[in-house]
Amino acid sequence: MQHVLLIGAGTMGKEHANSYYAMKDVRVVGIVDKRTEQAQEVIGDKDTIVFESIEEAVNTLEHIDVIDVCVPTFLHKEYVMKAADFGIDVICEKPLAYTLEDAKEMMDYCDKKQVKLFVGHVVRFFPQYAKAKELVANGAIGEIGVVRTRRGGNFPAGWTDWYSNAAKSGGVILDLIIHDFDFLRWNFGEVERVYAKGLPNLHYAIVTVAFQSGVIAHVEGSWVHQTFSTQFEFAGTNGIVDYDSSKEEPVFLSIKQSNGDVGGVQVPQSPLRRSPYFTELQHFLKCLKTNETPIVTAEDAYRAMEISIAALQSLKTGLPVTLGQKGEN
Ligand SMILES: NC(=O)c1ccc[n+]([C@@H]2O[C@H](COP(=O)([O-])OP(=O)(O)OC[C@H]3O[C@@H](n4cnc5c(N)ncnc54)[C@H](O)[C@@H]3O)[C@@H](O)[C@H]2O)c1
Repeated sequence: MQHVLLIGAGTMGKEHANSYYAMKDVRVVGIVDKRTEQAQEVIGDKDTIVFESIEEAVNTLEHIDVIDVCVPTFLHKEYVMKAADFGIDVICEKPLAYTLEDAKEMMDYCDKKQVKLFVGHVVRFFPQYAKAKELVANGAIGEIGVVRTRRGGNFPAGWTDWYSNAAKSGGVILDLIIHDFDFLRWNFGEVERVYAKGLPNLHYAIVTVAFQSGVIAHVEGSWVHQTFSTQFEFAGTNGIVDYDSSKEEPVFLSIKQSNGDVGGVQVPQSPLRRSPYFTELQHFLKCLKTNETPIVTAEDAYRAMEISIAALQSLKTGLPVTLGQKGEN
């Protein structure tokens, strides 16, 4: 049995709690939230205990294997450092932190205290995204030249409207399209340069990402649309892989034929029995047990943040930013 202490009972806290509740051999032993009534609502009739503070939870609970941090981004550092102080392994929602300095400090501190740190970059656990990576890696569409991704929907409703404060959330660039930055880096490796344009309130942005491999990606993020959807399109020398979540279609593979025609196949997908959050958290819990390296590491989370921070700097200055040059959000 693995015992989880959850911190935060908002949108993500609820998602994580429901994932754990659906797992065999996992118990959510406690949930910490300043709003205890909100935590109570999330746990329903489960035997999870609600706490007002992490200290109270750790002092009360007999056994905690992992602390899962689902509070707003600007509070991640506080709770990850506390978890490390208690010597308890930690899962933290993305983005790892609000600044690179904080992220580095958190990673170093976890290393020093010998606790594992997992970061919830869930897109790697979406079957459509994982399938696209597999197709690209297998050379299904030849050499990739350009990529387009889009992620957007309505404005996220958070506790005390913290998402609308760009100094707490980092807007769409740090909070939303960091998912695509991580996914793209997973496919194409390190980034050379980024250039961003967007609304001053960071509710909409377009970022051009140039990878060291030569691939160019156009990444769009929006909090000003009505319904949430995500899209990607990989263009290679032999064809296209594309996906649009709003069409509820599987990943589509179009291959150039020798006669010049384009043939398309829908790549079979099994209907999702479990949410990608379930898959991600189950994977992290397995890594805790087996000591294996997770599909996404804290270092990956840091590198994705680097792309976001560079994009925020580009948006501010109007100039492209080469990675490796220091940037502040
Ligand atoms: N992986 C994903 O797909 C995904 C999606 C949405 C959000 N997120 C990330 O998850 C994190 C949480 O976002 P959310 O949308 O769930 O936020 P939210 O505003 O819905 O919930 C935050 C919760 O934290 C509680 N809280 C606030 N201050 C606290 C404190 N000091 N101690 C204890 N609890 C406190 C609030 O009462 C609230 O219940 C963010 O970092 C966000 O970027 C990830």
